[in-house]
Amino acid sequence: MNDIAEDDNDDFPKPQGELALQTIAMPADSNSDGDIFGGWLVSQMDLAGAVCANRLARGRVATVAIDSMVFLRPVAVGSVISCYTHVEDIGRSSMAIIVEVWAQHHSDTEPRKVTEGQFTFVAIDENRRTRPVPRTA
Ligand SMILES: CC(C)(COP(=O)(O)OP(=O)(O)OC[C@H]1O[C@@H](n2cnc3c(N)ncnc32)[C@H](O)[C@@H]1OP(=O)(O)O)[C@@H](O)C(=O)NCCC(=O)NCCS
Repeated sequence: MNDIAEDDNDDFPKPQGELALQTIAMPADSNSDGDIFGGWLVSQMDLAGAVCANRLARGRVATVAIDSMVFLRPVAVGSVISCYTHVEDIGRSSMAIIVEVWAQHHSDTEPRKVTEGQFTFVAIDENRRTRPVPRTA
């Protein structure tokens, strides 16, 4: 188990960071048993991380790495999927962003964390060359 999984307990029940993306898990995103594909969740997480990175970089970014990923619970079709992001680190051109996914089915009383991962994005220019992340004053 890694640190991310250890953080997921009843003492740590609230999402960390800002809501970056919200959608609904549809039947087309599921396998034959009705559980949502992990790859679809990773795709939503990449989009959510990019929303955060675009804002930080004030422009184009590319995903360079997914440094950790943990799937904590299965996701049912029809669940509302909420992706939260918080910035772990900013380098010259890179931004490490933690993305948490929380899911709530209509039969659930409250959302539960289902996935968490660290995504690294790089700020790039129109020629796909790296560029510095702007520093806020
Ligand atoms: C992103 C890309 C432009 C970076 O180019 P590069 O030649 O690796 O650039 P650098 O070696 O200078 O690394 C740039 C930054 O990324 C970081 N980085 C590179 N590889 C990394 C990795 N595997 N994990 C974490 N950070 C990494 C570097 O540490 C550096 O950070 P810093 O500028 O904050 O110090 C290039 O790798 C690329 O185009 N990759 C494909 C991106 C892509 O298609 N993504 C999927 C769709 S968006």
